[in-house]
Amino acid sequence: MTDRLFIFDTTLRDGEQSPGASMTKDEKLRIARQLERLKVDVIEAGFPASSNGDFEAVRAIAQAIKGATVCALARANDRDVSRAADALKGGESTRIHIFLATSDLHMEKKLRMTREQVFEQAKLSVRFARNLAGDVEFSPEDGYRSDPEFLYRVLEAVIAEGATTINIPDTVGYAVPELYGEFLLDLRRRIPNADKAVWSVHCHNDLGMAVANSLAGVKIGGARQVECTINGLGERAGNCSLEEIVMAVKTRKDYFKLDIGVDATQIVPASRLVAQTTGFVVQPNKAVVGANAFAHASGIHQDGVLKARDTYEIMRAEDVGWATNRIVLGKLSGRNAFKQRLKELGIEMEAEADVNNAFARFKELADRKSDIFDEDILALVMDEAVTAEHEHYRFISLSQHSETGERPQASVAFAAGEVQHHASSDGNGPVDASLKAIESKVASGADMLLYSVNAITSGSTESQGEVTVRLQHGGRVVNGVGADPDIIVASAKAYLAALNKLHSKTERVAAQG
Ligand code: KIV
Ligand code: ZN
Repeated sequence: MTDRLFIFDTTLRDGEQSPGASMTKDEKLRIARQLERLKVDVIEAGFPASSNGDFEAVRAIAQAIKGATVCALARANDRDVSRAADALKGGESTRIHIFLATSDLHMEKKLRMTREQVFEQAKLSVRFARNLAGDVEFSPEDGYRSDPEFLYRVLEAVIAEGATTINIPDTVGYAVPELYGEFLLDLRRRIPNADKAVWSVHCHNDLGMAVANSLAGVKIGGARQVECTINGLGERAGNCSLEEIVMAVKTRKDYFKLDIGVDATQIVPASRLVAQTTGFVVQPNKAVVGANAFAHASGIHQDGVLKARDTYEIMRAEDVGWATNRIVLGKLSGRNAFKQRLKELGIEMEAEADVNNAFARFKELADRKSDIFDEDILALVMDEAVTAEHEHYRFISLSQHSETGERPQASVAFAAGEVQHHASSDGNGPVDASLKAIESKVASGADMLLYSVNAITSGSTESQGEVTVRLQHGGRVVNGVGADPDIIVASAKAYLAALNKLHSKTERVAAQG
């Protein structure tokens, strides 16, 4: 006998809380469509009360997605819950997710509320939400560090008010597998109406145990929903990785005895899309989605795999979507083939002018690079962020000179609103010179926290370089991503993309603030 494990993806909500990972509405929609292809059960699309931008993103996702439940986060108050319900209105299948801290530490120091006040607010907010939605999830934030006696009362009350899913967050990643599993089991045994709700796990990775804790919550605790993110994206050390959970449960079905609805062949495309969109690069030795996850370097391993794959492979690369890394288009591909591929990648372009513009850029790229992969097309579309009319800073052109023994020089032309700038500088290297040239005009005063370069598609120096720049200014952290076969140009684009994000001063309320 098997039963079903629900996969709740929170890349677009908890993942997005990672400093610098915030996404635009279009980017979130593109990832939501990939999650739909991945066939996750629930997509947590955002936190509508946190900003107007997130409200609009949740609304667009709720309208567009079919076949997965679209969920919106809310604090336990009427305003947040109404915002979540409004954003979800008209969606095919929707859920409101309410959270309220229950640990003594959070109640006393953060909320400045008594146990009784939290108990009442939890009940009232779920009651209010159930008048607006049939599917309501409740999370006692910092649940794992909460007094179990208090949790019994709160959780019994919210289930009685109609909460359909109870999620137990290990908000700070403090749990260890056996104890977390037993904690959940105890709650399910002690709460009289526990069987009226689906139990869920939500683990952070501060001690590197988010996946192990989540699996223990399933195996020992009897949870039937796992909250996770693509690539384990999330604040601090991140959330539980979706790809690891899915492949652990599928590969060890003999042990877990659970069914999962996810189409694993969409895992690698999802991982790439999230990495490219956020600029959070996947480490090469990351399980399932790292570039080395299926590479056998040692002679003994290679010999074994050639004789029989299962000597060293417990999963097949193609089963998690590595085979989809194929050449899709080239120089001779026409506009229709390009448009079709955009559609398959979940990229919606309504205006014909936008398609024409993207196609022209594709042709330019195909002249410089013979094989065009999906990642190149995604990068090209994301590049719009630094060339599109509506962006404040737009890249125009760059020239640079570097020679052994001489200090490199760069000149960059870029637009800031209606004004065109031509700036020059020298620097330690051509990248340094280019970014200094831009900064000499913009004077953002931002601190650079990260600069990284990656090949978009592995295997050859013909690949486009993808650069991530992380800037910090006035308490905000933003990531900018730029791609080009010339990594100096990619760096300038990434810097301008980050400046655009700093320029669009969207303030957000943090879910765990
Ligand atoms: O980690 C956490 O506690 C959360 C809640 C908002 C569910 O993300
Ligand atoms: Zn979380």
